[in-house]
Amino acid sequence: MTQTEPVTPPLERAAPMRVVGQPVVHHDFVDKVKGTQLYAADWKLPGMLYARVVRAPLPSARITAVDTAEAEALPGVIAVLTAEDVPCNRVIERASGGLGELAVEMPVLARDRVRFAGEPVALVAAVSQQVADEAAELVEVEYEDLPGVFDPEAALAADAPRVHDEGNVLVEWHIRRGDAEKALAEADLVVTGEYRSQHAEHAYLEPEAGVGWLENGVVTLRVSTQVIEHAAAIAGILEVPENKVRVISSYMGGGFGGKEDMTVEPYLALLVWHTRRPVRMIWDRQESMLASTKRHPFVMRYRTGVRSDGTILAQEVDIVGDAGAYPYLSARVLFAGTALSCGPYRTPNASLRSRAVFTNNVPTSAFRGFGAMQVTLGYESQMDRIASALNLPPAEVRRRNFLAKGDTIPTGETLDTAVACEETLRRVLDRMGEPPAPSGPGKRVGRGFACNMQPYGRTIWFRDRASAWLSLQADGTLLIRSGITDLGAGQAASLCQIASEVLGVPLAEISVYIGDTALNPPAGGTFATRQLYMSGNAVLHASRLLRDRIAPVAAEMLGCAEAELSFEDGLVRDAGGSGTGLHLAELVAACEQREVDTALLAVWRAEQGSFDPRLGQGDSFPDYTYGTHAADVEVDTETGEVTVLRYVASHDVGRCINPLRVVGQIQGGAMQGLGYALMEDVVMEEGNAASSLFAHYFIPTSMDMPDVEVEIVESGEGKGPLNARGIGEPPIANSAAAVANAITAAIGRRPTRLPMTPERVLDLCQE
Ligand code: MOS
Repeated sequence: MTQTEPVTPPLERAAPMRVVGQPVVHHDFVDKVKGTQLYAADWKLPGMLYARVVRAPLPSARITAVDTAEAEALPGVIAVLTAEDVPCNRVIERASGGLGELAVEMPVLARDRVRFAGEPVALVAAVSQQVADEAAELVEVEYEDLPGVFDPEAALAADAPRVHDEGNVLVEWHIRRGDAEKALAEADLVVTGEYRSQHAEHAYLEPEAGVGWLENGVVTLRVSTQVIEHAAAIAGILEVPENKVRVISSYMGGGFGGKEDMTVEPYLALLVWHTRRPVRMIWDRQESMLASTKRHPFVMRYRTGVRSDGTILAQEVDIVGDAGAYPYLSARVLFAGTALSCGPYRTPNASLRSRAVFTNNVPTSAFRGFGAMQVTLGYESQMDRIASALNLPPAEVRRRNFLAKGDTIPTGETLDTAVACEETLRRVLDRMGEPPAPSGPGKRVGRGFACNMQPYGRTIWFRDRASAWLSLQADGTLLIRSGITDLGAGQAASLCQIASEVLGVPLAEISVYIGDTALNPPAGGTFATRQLYMSGNAVLHASRLLRDRIAPVAAEMLGCAEAELSFEDGLVRDAGGSGTGLHLAELVAACEQREVDTALLAVWRAEQGSFDPRLGQGDSFPDYTYGTHAADVEVDTETGEVTVLRYVASHDVGRCINPLRVVGQIQGGAMQGLGYALMEDVVMEEGNAASSLFAHYFIPTSMDMPDVEVEIVESGEGKGPLNARGIGEPPIANSAAAVANAITAAIGRRPTRLPMTPERVLDLCQE
């Protein structure tokens, strides 16, 4: 078989830099390694109260009476709040930016109806956690059972119980390009597949937590959140002006999308507002698992039409996503799933439909990968099925279909940066080398891989922006202020590296202040893999503006042209590098004399565009990150157990800001993806989560999985600062498809349902 030419031309490489690209130690490493980092739950305040949420035990019921008298009478109880005590008990989520979802109210506390088991009904604050927990048990709520619906496809039936009066379909998206029906009819081969994914839990080590207090009449919350901008929604709930709410985000022990929506914030705010005292709320693991949002289970139906050489002619995709009981971000998650459902492959004809459907299951919302992750199992299983039907190598079928710069994707937008799938695929397969042999009788080994594309940055009709403030101090050190939140991935530290690169201030002489609505300029939340793209660009822009402002002063002092200046090691030098150069402190003093400000605020705006939901065409995301993962697995055909023997992952990050962080993101993403592939499942039984502890919800440990070997590709073509691409979410997407393809290679039967547990794999082995 002859090799076809690579579809992408050789990539522009990212040229080496001084600070950016170096594996530097970041300011937050030491406290984390020593265990001295103070997380949200670690804070205590004098006179602090302890809080507890009272939650509904039933998935669908009418509330006929709430009696708080007994709870209130318990010594040590300071407040018991119900729906009556919430000034504005209606939150309306406009996740799609108003493009088409139902306007369904989400109550802060349920008043007359509960729609999922775990829904908050009342709040308690008391002098100790023990009293608060006891009082929560004493709140008497009378329920009258109502019929519920627990399967999103059943919820589509005309006579299904209504979760909300407005209807059970929160949103329907339909992206159309060309004529998929006609192209499928004319295709040499049509491959069909149906794939199912599960409810998954974010399982951050740090559960939802925080403290709140009243300071100068301002409700101040210090919480573990990805989004301090929820301050506005909290003010709305309290019916106070926005300037009366301040939100501070501590360095976080993981978010993964689970802290993109509000968690403890409205409850803390209500209790602080009513008691006028400091309050702490920590959800324990069981509460977090039962009641926090989950990843959407998807039912995905694919029809892919190809020519006999493997060229894709058309895709027809239908996705049903379980939104659970309330909207949250389901409309946006399903949009991403739909827009990305064809993966990194040319698809001239496409009909891609999705629906987010209400059920009486736990609500689903953002989770690393945000809909674009689930569909990777769909399109990468389809690619292997095509290869197998046409008797072509799986890599070859992909190479023939990879998108390239300049191609148009099904939404109608044209890709304007490099598509490095080809290179990530080659790097991964080269590194994998020879496949291993089975370890004994009854064992089968197989290799599988999966490519993906994942957006970074918000859908571009949100007209995103981020700001950053820099100040060169009198001694030449630098302050950065940014409303960015740091989930543990180094969001704050990357800003320091970028500023250091441009201004030459050594990393140890830069301090970064983040995550405070009162003190820092807004950066937007940390989600959608947007912060390197958004705040990274804002800091790059601010650093360049600041350098341009002080450069004329330095040029004058050094007697050279501005263009000849170099900013390095805390010094400004002329091109010849003669003499000792000018220390930044001297330069700041000279600027001061000349009334040149050495502090500034800069705002950076993302690309903008629009999408027409009726035509199913328009702009969707600013750019994408591409990658490939490969796995060697061994299947025990007598037990169904799957062991991952080897795992290699590669992504094009455009430019790597800190390789330690990039490798960490790729390893962590792949590992979280492997848990999703093989073991993680919040089993819902008639609306009740049967997995509410780590004893029943298995996440992979280092004992279960091999090291994830990482190949970093730097195409030099991203839209982030210095041509970086986002890498937070992309690496979680490939694992399930890579493992499904590997299991198929091993046993000759295809798993189509996640997680691929021993029971399910054994069933396949015995078929
Ligand atoms: Mo995310 S899943 O956009 O935090």
